[in-house]
Amino acid sequence: MGNLIEYERVRKIYNSGSDEVTALEEVSFGVEPGEFVTVVGRSGCGKSTLLKITAGLLSTTGGTVRIAGNPVIGPLTNIGIVFQSPVLLAWRKALDNVLLQIESRGLNVAAYRKKALDLLELTGLRGFENKYPSELSGGMQQRVSISRALIHDPHLLLMDEPFGALDAITRDEMNLELLRIWSESKKTVLFITHSIPEAVFLGDRVVVMTPRPGKVAEIMTIELRASGRAMTRAPMESR
Ligand SMILES: Nc1ncnc2c1ncn2[C@@H]1O[C@H](COP(=O)(O)OP(=O)(O)O)[C@@H](O)[C@H]1O
Ligand SMILES: [Mg+2]
Repeated sequence: MGNLIEYERVRKIYNSGSDEVTALEEVSFGVEPGEFVTVVGRSGCGKSTLLKITAGLLSTTGGTVRIAGNPVIGPLTNIGIVFQSPVLLAWRKALDNVLLQIESRGLNVAAYRKKALDLLELTGLRGFENKYPSELSGGMQQRVSISRALIHDPHLLLMDEPFGALDAITRDEMNLELLRIWSESKKTVLFITHSIPEAVFLGDRVVVMTPRPGKVAEIMTIELRASGRAMTRAPMESR
């Protein structure tokens, strides 16, 4: 099957004053449609750089990223992105934070209300739609972010350490929740983490990166995959 994302010798060099940092060196791999790929590596190995380049938020120094065959040359609007911190507007209720995505696209907000409520239910927030972010736990806020990233039905979801700030139990719950959403919605997911257990737990394939310069050290295929794994796999005890 053709790849949805294709990284071809992607390089990124940051210049800050006289310093040059090679954040990515010749990164090449592909992500198939419907695949759940995790990218793991310690801090500073270029994971966030790779995600931003994929989203078109950052340009490459060399090489190409293609999505569905088209080179990424500017910010993509048809994808979903979830960052490490939830980035919610404090003065808007959960539902209105989800609908923000629709508003900023100039779409009909009323037409998406039901869908936003469905997504809040899907992410386990039924009954919390009228709460403000300050009335929600960190995990719940991140669920609002995930709902917001899904409201326009993107085929591709990019996640940069979305559960990194959560406690271990909430994180396990969120991992299961995410697998459930993924198995129900058949999206392609690129998920970044510095946790090896999390990478192996979630990924069909795990891209292992090493720092200085950031590059792909290894790509592992995780066997143990069957449809409905979200239901059959137990949460991890700790990591
Ligand atoms: N805007 C920037 N300017 C200069 N260096 C940067 C910038 N962003 C990231 N870097 C450097 O690039 C390398 C990779 O960073 P990053 O992609 O954030 O890694 P990770 O997400 O894996 O922690 C690091 O050495 C980091 O210090
Ligand atoms: Mg990062």
